[in-house]
Amino acid sequence: MKDVLRIGVAGLGTVGGGVLKLIATNGDLLAQRCGRPIRVTAVSARDRGRDRGVDLGGLTWHADAASLARDPSVDVVVEVIGGSDGIAKSLVETAIGSGKHVVTANKALLAHHGTALARAAEAKGLAIAYEAAVAGGIPIIKALREGLAANRINRVFGILNGTCNYILTTMRQTGREFADVLAEAQKLGYAEADPTFDVDGVDTAHKLAILTSVAFGCEVNFAGVHVEGIRHVSATDIAFAEELGYRIKLLGIARPTEHGVEQRVHACMVPIGTPIAHVEGVFNAVVTEGDFVGQSVAEGRGAGAGPTASAVVSDLIDIARGRVTPTFGVPAGQLGRPAVAPMARHRGAYYVRLTVVDRPGVIADVAAALRDEQVSMEAMIQRGRAPEEAVPVVLTTHETDEAAMRRALDRIARLGTVREPPHMIRIETL
Ligand SMILES: NC(=O)c1ccc[n+]([C@@H]2O[C@H](COP(=O)([O-])OP(=O)(O)OC[C@H]3O[C@@H](n4cnc5c(N)ncnc54)[C@H](OP(=O)(O)O)[C@@H]3O)[C@@H](O)[C@H]2O)c1
Repeated sequence: MKDVLRIGVAGLGTVGGGVLKLIATNGDLLAQRCGRPIRVTAVSARDRGRDRGVDLGGLTWHADAASLARDPSVDVVVEVIGGSDGIAKSLVETAIGSGKHVVTANKALLAHHGTALARAAEAKGLAIAYEAAVAGGIPIIKALREGLAANRINRVFGILNGTCNYILTTMRQTGREFADVLAEAQKLGYAEADPTFDVDGVDTAHKLAILTSVAFGCEVNFAGVHVEGIRHVSATDIAFAEELGYRIKLLGIARPTEHGVEQRVHACMVPIGTPIAHVEGVFNAVVTEGDFVGQSVAEGRGAGAGPTASAVVSDLIDIARGRVTPTFGVPAGQLGRPAVAPMARHRGAYYVRLTVVDRPGVIADVAAALRDEQVSMEAMIQRGRAPEEAVPVVLTTHETDEAAMRRALDRIARLGTVREPPHMIRIETL
């Protein structure tokens, strides 16, 4: 059996604690599969006195995480602190500078600095492995980089944030509004005290930027992601979606188009008959489309100590076996820099919800605004009658340009009988 692979774990929270527990529990199995033992030798966190639920006896404690990255008794640094900059970034840079492989769960770091870090690591023949950073326990990075590597990928999309999926699922199941369900999710520990990154789509965008790089062989371009969240989705939208044969999901979607690579994160209406419509609660799913393999769907838990530790340790196993692959599937210096497809050029179908005064001629005015921008309406629903009162009206369109849709919505917003700004959700053909 070869030498022990010595691990330094920086961060002992949900993920770091899970990694320690997994290695302690499955140590024999890991040694058998790798042909050598994997052993944690050093750790770092802020509070030395906190009970981590795992035995830290015999491990070197580093009050300064950067010193763990220089520790000669460490071969691989596991960065599970978090944050796109600050200590996480300097720790990873120090580890690479010290000739150590890095495993991280930090999607924010890779979304912002992935290409530069990959260049630095690959120049030294080192790995930066990050299976846990995208869709938690679902091994989608390995699937794209290895299992599907023979294919040209035409599209990748998925539910990449369990908090949003939990909120949307609960809204549908209970008929309650977003704010109410978010507050409950925070109480249950499914949502952070500051939910911004999750519900405003930023976390999904971080993961999508990484997936895009691996799927299409291009530099990580987080700034090129169009990002919207789910705060505007109402119980009314969810009920209408159901009636029209859709579910509402927050998706990250990336694909090459004639205008460049499109990366977008927003609420989508997905047909009830598609697999992704049935991914519920905190579960994640990623759908890939390859030119030879066709569509494949991977579903599983996107967060939590167990699933995330499973992904982190799978990366450690690769390193223990001596497998170091280019970070994003193509050597970092050869990653492409394609144009960003502007959202205005996006083509798709739309759902629009209006609050209008119930009065003769209103619907004709809305239809005229759509016609004037060459947007073709597919269906319209008005529920109930309340003369001279505000009532919801929803409509769906055939495929059209986003720019034309936006111009039509501006016209509709200016109609005297429209009470609130029109509210739009994109319909996805999956
Ligand atoms: N939680 C998940 O399910 C999940 C899933 C996928 C990816 N991730 C990613 O994994 C990373 C960690 O997430 P987490 O949920 O485990 O976070 P967490 O529970 O908040 O843990 C963070 C850990 O980092 C330590 N830390 C903070 N600042 C430090 C510093 N300056 N020096 C040394 N240690 C420091 C904290 O120490 P103390 O404990 O002493 O405060 C804590 O142990 C993040 O990048 C996150 O996005 C998490």
